[in-house]
Amino acid sequence: MRKKIVAGNWKMNTTVAEGVELAKAIVAKVNEVPAGVTLIVAPPFTHLTSVAEVLKDSAVMLSAQNCADQPKGAYTGEVAASMLKGIGCAYTILGHSERREYYGENSEKLEKKMALALESGLRVIYCVGEKLNEREEGKHFDVVSEQISSVLFGLTRAEIKRIVVAYEPVWAIGTGVTATAEQAQEMHAFIRQTISAHFGEETGEAMSILYGGSCKPSNAQELFACPDIDGGLIGGASLKADDFIAIAKS
Ligand code: PGA
Repeated sequence: MRKKIVAGNWKMNTTVAEGVELAKAIVAKVNEVPAGVTLIVAPPFTHLTSVAEVLKDSAVMLSAQNCADQPKGAYTGEVAASMLKGIGCAYTILGHSERREYYGENSEKLEKKMALALESGLRVIYCVGEKLNEREEGKHFDVVSEQISSVLFGLTRAEIKRIVVAYEPVWAIGTGVTATAEQAQEMHAFIRQTISAHFGEETGEAMSILYGGSCKPSNAQELFACPDIDGGLIGGASLKADDFIAIAKS
């Protein structure tokens, strides 16, 4: 059985104090979430140590939103994967479209980050997704296929087991426009086939593939009911504990 996961990507939101309160509110309600659903929160770097303390005795797991493409040294402003592991992160997000778009993260950079994250013992939520014009031009499968093959195909079978893929169509992120369940299912099935074709069916079938992009309590149920959608990566709606928990209950 594939793992069901609902992960909250807080992006650059909340003060540390607000983040701690949000984490406490999530922990307080975690028992409402069905067994078998893993909850993950991804606060900003500055919050990780404090939030780790709140999550300590709970089932909620901690993720970073990014890591450096170098192991250590003179890289001002960067945070290494090993540092994240050292303070209790179980996961890091990599390849979010905002990183690709605003910070020039290409496949070459992401391959290095991926290697370091895995080497440090982190699991990775790897984001893929096409832009609106790419979908309109009918290139969405090619774009996602390239994002997967360039960064994931070099991994070993043991490593790929520690990856969760998040399909986030860029046109749906923070826009209020959600992919239809049909559009999401179609792409999720394609991603699973792509993984299966390279790593074998067992690996493809075992991989959790999350949907992200304006996922909220009102649409989560329909999306999560699709056979190849194993949960969600939630931005805006993860900043309210009630909404985040409601999504996880879907
Ligand atoms: P959103 O963001 O839920 O606010 O659309 C999702 C994401 O970017 O992970």
